[in-house]
Amino acid sequence: MPLPVPRLSLSEPSEARTRMTSAEVIDVFKQYVIANYTRYPVCLVRGQGSQVWDAEGNQYLDLFPGWGCGLLGHCPPRVVRAVQEQVAELIHVPNTWYTQAQGELAKALCTRVAFPAKAFFCNSGTEANEAAIKLARLNGRGSGPNGSDRYKIVTMHNSFHGRTMGSLTATGQPKYHQGVGPMLPGFNYVPFGDLDAVSKAIDAETIAVMLEPIQGEGGINLPPSGYLEGLRELCDKHKLLLICDEVQTGMGRTGKWYTHQHWNVNPDIITLAKAVAGGVALGGLLARTEVAEHLKPGTHAATFGGNPIACRASLATIETIEKESLLERAVLIGQKFQQHFTQLKERCPIITEVRVRGAMIGIQLATDGAPIVAECLKRRLLINATHQTVIRLLPAINLTDDEIEQGCTILSEVLLAAK
Ligand SMILES: Cc1ncc(COP(=O)(O)O)c(C=O)c1O
Repeated sequence: MPLPVPRLSLSEPSEARTRMTSAEVIDVFKQYVIANYTRYPVCLVRGQGSQVWDAEGNQYLDLFPGWGCGLLGHCPPRVVRAVQEQVAELIHVPNTWYTQAQGELAKALCTRVAFPAKAFFCNSGTEANEAAIKLARLNGRGSGPNGSDRYKIVTMHNSFHGRTMGSLTATGQPKYHQGVGPMLPGFNYVPFGDLDAVSKAIDAETIAVMLEPIQGEGGINLPPSGYLEGLRELCDKHKLLLICDEVQTGMGRTGKWYTHQHWNVNPDIITLAKAVAGGVALGGLLARTEVAEHLKPGTHAATFGGNPIACRASLATIETIEKESLLERAVLIGQKFQQHFTQLKERCPIITEVRVRGAMIGIQLATDGAPIVAECLKRRLLINATHQTVIRLLPAINLTDDEIEQGCTILSEVLLAAK
């Protein structure tokens, strides 16, 4: 008979933590935290849904929760419960052992793509892409003319794939490469949306084409019609892998489980992170089964990858999306923002274009976006500007109608008042 699982008693109260003011926290950072981020002078202490509070008790509406990780807003109840249960049962075991949570999650993610797939787990988006690059190269070994290796990957201008050296090299933005070269060999960059350019960039050493189906950091750039289908055709013709970086677009953000599903296209590898575990750190990739077979013991690993806490959080995220019909909600949220800002564009000269797919919203400005973000912060609205001139919103897909109204009102007033 199996022994009952011992449970940790949570009756002992933990020592009360004294709460510091924002200014005190900022002082500690000045002394001890490397200043590689531009931070707003606010220390956030609590969040619920799309609302977040700072150390002084000020409340904010967050339309950019967790840089896209807060797909369900802050502290989604099912995720909180799953993590609380799991953390008291088993925090971490390495991948030399099996855990039910990782198996269940792999099944849940793989059965939501339209092709036979297997999963690998890590902890972040850049690691997921790093794994995809290695997997592509492993697939390319000996597959070129006369048994030579194919290793080159075509990626897009204005793409963003992460900050480790492989993913960073894949990122088609020279500003991120400055000062840290030499970059990895074997990457060719082409304009996003240009099939001819991809065709010209392919040679006998190419093994893959890699892209975000909608570019996120690059400014919410939507692909032209027929683009993904065209890439699939090119990949089939030249026996290349199509890699979709769905780190920002995946998990229902645009109204489908994975954004490539808006088009009639199946990639060979999909990378995931950000929202995949409702705000808990988790990354991973899903690869077509025969492609996945090339990751054998010893070829790749991540110590914390697929740990039970993150996997339970991800399963709870999927359950929430399903039970609360949030794929449909994401579409509706997109329609409301699209309508509001398309109408505003008519009387707001600094808006030049509105680009929306579900809860991925880009408002192209003719001016710098940073002052708009700063002004919204003063009005207790959290948003983002990317690529200098694009206001980017990645709201939770359970954002309420009242919150949409409130967010649109504040942002519109700020945009109308801007020069
Ligand atoms: C499309 C895409 N890929 C990869 C990454 C890198 O993810 P991470 O910061 O978790 O390494 C990001 C981060 O913004 C992203 O948007």
